[in-house]
Amino acid sequence: MKFGRIVLAVLCASFALSSAAIAQDDAEKAIEQYRKKLKEDPWSNPGLLDADRGEVLWKTPRGPNNVSLEKCDLGKGPGVVDGAFAELPRFFEDAGKVMDVETRILWCMVNLQGFNRADLVKNPHPAGGKPVKELGAIATYVANKSNGMKFAAKLDTPQAKPVVKLGEELFFRRSGPFDFSCASCHSNPGQRIRLQALPHLSDPKEARIAVGEWPGYRVSSSHVMTMQHRVYDCYWQMRMPRVELGSDATVAIIAYLTKQAEGGEISAPSIKR
Ligand code: HEC
Repeated sequence: MKFGRIVLAVLCASFALSSAAIAQDDAEKAIEQYRKKLKEDPWSNPGLLDADRGEVLWKTPRGPNNVSLEKCDLGKGPGVVDGAFAELPRFFEDAGKVMDVETRILWCMVNLQGFNRADLVKNPHPAGGKPVKELGAIATYVANKSNGMKFAAKLDTPQAKPVVKLGEELFFRRSGPFDFSCASCHSNPGQRIRLQALPHLSDPKEARIAVGEWPGYRVSSSHVMTMQHRVYDCYWQMRMPRVELGSDATVAIIAYLTKQAEGGEISAPSIKR
């Protein structure tokens, strides 16, 4: 009798599990179809409006110095935007640092336009439903100007190599109250949390697709999310202290992810779930 009850319980549990798995698969398929529809009509991507806003911000004289960002050197010479994102992060002689796109724009906003760095990094990411901030809109514009190109950042230079190595170490380092690393959620094939598939970012095949989709318009929060914001949010999921935009840690992680994605195609802004 007791044994019968156990068998029944096991059967019920396995039925519940399998029907949950079916529901999950159906939902994932529906989400995939929805994404596909949005992608079939590229002009339906609201992130392009932010790229346009970013272009205006780039070209408009602003800040205490009342200059535009057209003298900002993203690595290919002052003012050159076309193809610059495809070669970032990179080492910048003038700053003595490796920088990703957002960190470099921040540097130009501070050093050319005279904005106060502390103000810009205080609250740099938008809340749900709010549009991406100015820096993020400019990054969206810059990334969009490398759309269709392949990641070709020069990360094998003596200055960049240690930064990529630090990023790799941070990616695999368990820390925080949950004792998670990035790898806990992003280094297993086919892993997911609830309905979200978790890309296997230490596998170049998946990294090439995932990394190339940032910045992306995130439907569930109705705004463009940048890579600095993505890393910030994942660190928050690990219950780590708020990581600063442009910090050595975020730049190193982005350098590592970009190295993993080398040769992958850029499709920014993309549409995320
Ligand atoms: C607790 C699990 C968890 C941890 C730990 C975690 N992430 Fe994530 N990450 C997620 C989830 C969930 C998503 C997908 C969110 C979504 O679909 O909206 C995601 C998405 C991402 C993406 C975008 C992937 C794509 O599909 O384009 C990147 C990049 C990323 N994480 C990087 C990191 C990095 C770097 C770390 C470590 C600092 C990290 N994650 C730690 C859960 C995690």
